[in-house]
Amino acid sequence: MTRTVTFSSLLLLFLASSLDAADGSQLYAECAKCHGTRGEKTEFSRAIGGWSRGEIKQALKEYRAGKRNLRGQGSIMRQRIAAFSDAQIDAVAAYVSSLK
Ligand code: HEC
Repeated sequence: MTRTVTFSSLLLLFLASSLDAADGSQLYAECAKCHGTRGEKTEFSRAIGGWSRGEIKQALKEYRAGKRNLRGQGSIMRQRIAAFSDAQIDAVAAYVSSLK
């Protein structure tokens, strides 16, 4: 019994983390239009691919709160990120940090 429960929890954990990654790449599809499929430097922004998950999360939360505006275009990001939940921000941040 205990074993079954432990196994099921592990399976759930595994499913949850793979969903997280899948979700992040789907969420990023929209971002890629401006940030490139690899998060490379574009006319909109310096490269973001490969930043740490925490750095990306923080930047996205600042945009969501209307508190980040590096190139006078923070409102563009704010519109894009306004409807994201914390979990979605975390998922997309995980995906971007995995890009090279
Ligand atoms: C319409 C184009 C556009 C889209 C779509 C877009 N961004 Fe941005 N992004 C920008 C611009 C422009 C900036 C610079 C804003 C500023 O002035 O601070 C930026 C900045 C950023 C930064 C901070 C870069 C830095 O130099 O600190 C991150 C991280 C980022 N975007 C991630 C994302 C993610 C993740 C998504 C998808 C949810 C996304 N962006 C969608 C245009 C876009």
